[in-house]
Amino acid sequence: MKSRSLVAIDQIDKQELLDLLARAQYFEAHPNSKILDGKVVATLFFEPSTRTRLSFETAVNRLGGRVIGFSDASTSSTSKGETLKDTIKMVSNYADIIVMRHFIEGAAQYATEVTDVPIVNAGDGANQHPSQTLLDLYSILKTQGTLEGLTITMVGDLKYGRTVHSLLMAMRHFKPVFNFVSSDELRMPQEYLDVCEREGIEYHLHTEFSEDIINSSDILYMTRVQRERFSDVMEYEKVKNLYTLHNAMLDGSKPTLRILHPLPRVNEISTDVDDNPKAYYFEQARNGVFARQAILTRALGIDPLKL
Ligand code: CP
Repeated sequence: MKSRSLVAIDQIDKQELLDLLARAQYFEAHPNSKILDGKVVATLFFEPSTRTRLSFETAVNRLGGRVIGFSDASTSSTSKGETLKDTIKMVSNYADIIVMRHFIEGAAQYATEVTDVPIVNAGDGANQHPSQTLLDLYSILKTQGTLEGLTITMVGDLKYGRTVHSLLMAMRHFKPVFNFVSSDELRMPQEYLDVCEREGIEYHLHTEFSEDIINSSDILYMTRVQRERFSDVMEYEKVKNLYTLHNAMLDGSKPTLRILHPLPRVNEISTDVDDNPKAYYFEQARNGVFARQAILTRALGIDPLKL
């Protein structure tokens, strides 16, 4: 049987991505139902979260399921020294799906190896954030009318930013042109540039965040510099405020440009952008509920379009 866990976005081929986006569209039109009646979803958050945890929990609640879990691992027996393996085995006794965020890269994959309960990766260290990617794709599709042939500009922390890694891996199916704007320290890792090379995807590395780049873009994907991933705080201080988008920088941009950000933002987008119709980051977060309803039903092998 095909694995119903979702650990990395590259587990999902182009057709299944499109199917999941069709499901998300269905759930946007029908957000409330009893599809998960009798099901229990565990949300285990070993790292802080607002959007991912609450939108997964909203997704479950709107589909009639129930949620257990923790938002702060210090309140769990992890603080007494219980291993991740034992925690996963215990929670598998109680839940039909485990949604997990963990600070260690590969933690979600490891969890799939110790349980048969589907695991949904809600972010593992600097590695991947596949449910964020599905909502990003859904947001791009809704705003651009297509995923094909778009110019996507990713700005900020491309080294530690798990959302940009997952988004690159998903967008590679749709012939994008990528602009990667970052300091040398926070460059897109070589393994992802190698994927672009192998698949013949055009990309450009920039250290300047120029208006020419903005004006050529269909999507501006801004990211936060992730303080929690730096071992040296001085290194973080050097790069934390390098790129800030201000409203005046959008004057020559395409009318169809949309600005995305996985959030939370710190200083990357000035609040004067918020009222610009090209700002889409708050709607993007709302799309997370529908994308996560799609992921949860996939994990349980339920197709709402065939009910
Ligand atoms: N986008 C995202 O992962 O946000 P949270 O950290 O608030 O879940």
